[in-house]
Order: sequence, then C-alpha cells, then structure tokens
Amino acid sequence: MPRLGVVIASTREGRVGAPVADWFLGRARTHAGFEVEVVDLKAVNLPVLSEPNHPRLKKYTQETTRAWSATVESLDAFVLVTPEYNHSASPALVNALDHLYFEWNYKPAGLVTYGGISGGLRAAQMTKLMLTAFKIVPMVEAVTIPFVTKHVADGVFTPDDAHDKSAKVMLDELVRWTGALRALRS
Ligand SMILES: Cc1cc2nc3c(=O)[nH]c(=O)nc-3n(C[C@H](O)[C@H](O)[C@H](O)COP(=O)(O)O)c2cc1C
Repeated sequence: MPRLGVVIASTREGRVGAPVADWFLGRARTHAGFEVEVVDLKAVNLPVLSEPNHPRLKKYTQETTRAWSATVESLDAFVLVTPEYNHSASPALVNALDHLYFEWNYKPAGLVTYGGISGGLRAAQMTKLMLTAFKIVPMVEAVTIPFVTKHVADGVFTPDDAHDKSAKVMLDELVRWTGALRALRS
C-alpha cells in the first residue's frame, strides 16, 4: 500500500487548516487507496532555512532537518492542505519544501486550498510552480474551499457535496500517478 502524507501547511494559533485536514484525513482513510499519515508542519517545527549546504548534498547539520528528510523519504505521495496568505503560498510550506530536494523527487501531490472568495487558488498556482522544481507532479484535480470560515464551527469543518466529491476525484488521480511514478523512482 503506498503511503500518503497529508501535510497541514498552516501553523498559526487557531488555524482552520487543522479542521480542514481532519475532514480530508477522514476522506483519505475511507478511500483506502493509501496508508495515510498526518504531517503537521507545526509539529515538524523547522526553523527558517538555515542549513549551510544545498539539500541536494544531503549533508544536513540539524536534527530537525534529518527527521524531516526521513519523514518525506518514507512517503510516496502528498496532499498539501494549505491556506492562502496575501495571494501567495504558505510560507511554512515553502520553507519545508526548501529544506530537502531528492526526497521529494518523482512523487505526486494534490492540493486542498482554502481562503476567502478565491478558495486559495492563487496560492495553489504559486505552489504548483514551486512543486515542479522538486520534480513533484501536481495534480490537476484539486479541492478548492472558498469562504472556509463559514464551514468551520467549534473546530470542525463541515464540507459541502462538492468538497467531498472533489476529494474523491483527487485521491483517485493520486493513486494513478503514484503507481505511474514508481517506475521513475526505482
Ligand atoms: C496573514 C494573512 C493573510 C491572508 N491573506 C489572504 C489572501 O490573500 N486570500 C485569502 O483568501 N485569504 C487570506 N487570508 C484569510 C485566510 O484565508 C484565513 O485567515 C484562513 O483561516 C487562513 O488559514 P489558517 O487559519 O489555516 O492559517 C489571510 C489571512 C492571514 C492571517
């Protein structure tokens, strides 16, 4: 069974990223195409990039980077649950990506984005551009959640039908790409 990391890419106190990720984790586990793991960037707790060597060298000097490398290495696919801040990608996600290189290569990633009227689509486009530098294949199919705060009460995200349907379509596509990319990783 391939291993899917569901990455929570917001780290703020009171973040809605946690309830959105909880909902998505439920969908991913029901889907049953992956063994599913939570990857919470708040818990990963990387400093702003300060490693002296290029990640391609894998000469990591910090324990947090070594642990992060092992986590990403062990995963076959990702779903990035990410907010949009100032029409841009999540800085915690950008920082986490920048810490590594080969560990990301030839793995697929789906995006669950949320925000105000844009549903995080500007962050999605910016993130996708960056993913390609790591040879991560971004899924076309995605989950987009406009007006996210209307769906969160008491720490619980309540989806509408479109969110549930798009999660299933994206997970189906992730399974296909995970299988196809296995050949490039061997
Ligand atoms: C610094 C900051 C910038 C934001 N910029 C945007 C934005 O550009 N587009 C948007 O749709 N929402 C924006 N928002 C609103 C967020 O979508 C909303 O606060 C959401 O809850 C953020 O996700 P989080 O709670 O997981 O951190 C911004 C929020 C913050 C805190």
